[in-house]
Amino acid sequence: MYAYDEIDRTLVNERVAEFRDQVKRRLSGELSEDEFKMLRLQNGVYLQLHAYMYRIAIPYGTLASNQLRRLAHVARRYDRGYGHFTTRQNIQFNWIKLAELPDAMADLAEVGIQSMQTSGNNMRNVTSDQWAGVAPGEVEDPRIWAELLRQFTTLHPEFSFLPRKFKIAITASDHDRAAIKIHDIGLRLKKNEQGETGFEVLVGGGLGRTPFIAKTIKPFVHGHDILSYVEAILRVYNQYGRRDNIYKARIKILVHELGIEKFAAEVEEEWQQIRDGVLKLDQGIIEDIRSRFFYPAYETLPHMPEELKQAAHDPKFEAWRKNSVFPHKVQGYAIVTVSLKPIGKPPGDATADQMDALADIADKYSFGEIRVGHEQNLALPHVRKRDLPAVWKALEAIGLAIPNVNLVSDIIACPGLDYCSLANARSIPIAQEITRRFANHDTANLIGRLHINISGCINACGHHHVGHIGILGVEKNNEEFYQITIGGRADEGAVLGTLIGPAVPYAEVADVVEDIVEAYLALRASPEELFVDTVKRLGVEPFRERVYATR
Ligand code: HEM
Ligand code: SF4
Repeated sequence: MYAYDEIDRTLVNERVAEFRDQVKRRLSGELSEDEFKMLRLQNGVYLQLHAYMYRIAIPYGTLASNQLRRLAHVARRYDRGYGHFTTRQNIQFNWIKLAELPDAMADLAEVGIQSMQTSGNNMRNVTSDQWAGVAPGEVEDPRIWAELLRQFTTLHPEFSFLPRKFKIAITASDHDRAAIKIHDIGLRLKKNEQGETGFEVLVGGGLGRTPFIAKTIKPFVHGHDILSYVEAILRVYNQYGRRDNIYKARIKILVHELGIEKFAAEVEEEWQQIRDGVLKLDQGIIEDIRSRFFYPAYETLPHMPEELKQAAHDPKFEAWRKNSVFPHKVQGYAIVTVSLKPIGKPPGDATADQMDALADIADKYSFGEIRVGHEQNLALPHVRKRDLPAVWKALEAIGLAIPNVNLVSDIIACPGLDYCSLANARSIPIAQEITRRFANHDTANLIGRLHINISGCINACGHHHVGHIGILGVEKNNEEFYQITIGGRADEGAVLGTLIGPAVPYAEVADVVEDIVEAYLALRASPEELFVDTVKRLGVEPFRERVYATR
């Protein structure tokens, strides 16, 4: 956990007071919706189909139990009793009333939660691995660096009006759980030959209308230089980014148009001017941030406690354990992923009651800590292995012991036409239907790891380009159609999926997914070959044939 200091608390409180005044002026008519727009966007407030939508940042996905309880309170008191966890370690509330928003903000500010820069053309929430600090084998806790960048970029004058929104993600593990290759800047923590900590810096990734996988701009930037290097990238982007055309304004387009070599040369030139200036981090600053992260007082525990051996006789527990429980860097502990993907429900939603109960479970079994991951699931980062059966029972009592992590029903989906004013098609009902088709756990298990990602329009909030199966809603003659891509992935081997053929109507999407899965089961070289690997080996053609043979 990280302890905010007085500067943060003052800043957030001032923001709330300022926004309260802005809302008052909007409600009295003194400000038009147009005038209000800029002001609300800087605080994560959108105007959507039915209501204002409020987006709150969860820096590097780390939440304390009292913070989760406060989110539950906001859901219950100001919204319709639930919240929606998104792919960028944010939570969104869809039905909040404008007049009550300042109160909700003030309630959140009390526990150190805020929404600054969760929309608008600025630096968004800096995201990281949801297992940061507990994943075995990571170089070091990437949140220390995420926090440094958070402080550096919050209300940074030059980064407040960028050509377009800007997203940074950091990982410190070989397996990338932060999807760094689809971010404007991706940082991979590593050590150089001298054993010094630094970063491989990637740039120009992003989804949306024109998707790109990020390219490496520099294989190693020393930790002390990371702020100046990021600043150099942003200066070049700020100078050359296409402010004249919103569709070409993201840094990915600039990198693509200039070419990575030319872009890198520009950045290098800028960096040389500033690298030895005020942004050079001295070790004291890094250590100060490090000292504000608290880690639990772990006990010395057996690797395989009796309680776990006993519980292994229960097939339901085992089914859950096999896909929800992951190794922890401390012996005797485990990381538990809490799936927010119940069969037939909107992916990523949690009710106020579930949030409260999870906060209690975290207090009892996970040192009061909860994490939010980019797959729209939560995690309990420090569970004693002997407590796993009890955690499972507690999760089952609130409908969250769902044994589908990484399986076909662990779907990422954007809100689509149910909430979003930009949508062309529904996403949530498609996700619900697919989860119903694959509700049988044995079938899902037989299929193995398969990520389905759904977006309701080209903006790609549901990451459809990098889904193993990607589903994109498009509109044709006022009807909802869906384009299907396969073979995408968002991890260290990130690639964009390939379109398999013409778009299909709403009613056929789940059938098409079933066809693709059946084709995979028939084509895979062995039960160990993952869906994405079969697609990589064979290409899309056999899948295209299977899907369109009868259509
Ligand atoms: C209903 C409210 C929402 C609105 C109006 C909205 C709007 C947008 C827009 C306009 C873009 C395209 C930006 C660009 O390419 O420059 C975008 C991208 C994105 N949004 Fe949303 N979004 C919403 C909800 C969400 C949700 C719920 C999620 C997560 C589940 C999400 C995650 C993302 C991500 C990951 C991207 C892709 C970023 C990239 O280009 O790399 N958004 N959103
Ligand atoms: S992908 Fe489109 S429909 Fe879905 S949330 Fe984003 S903007 Fe809305």
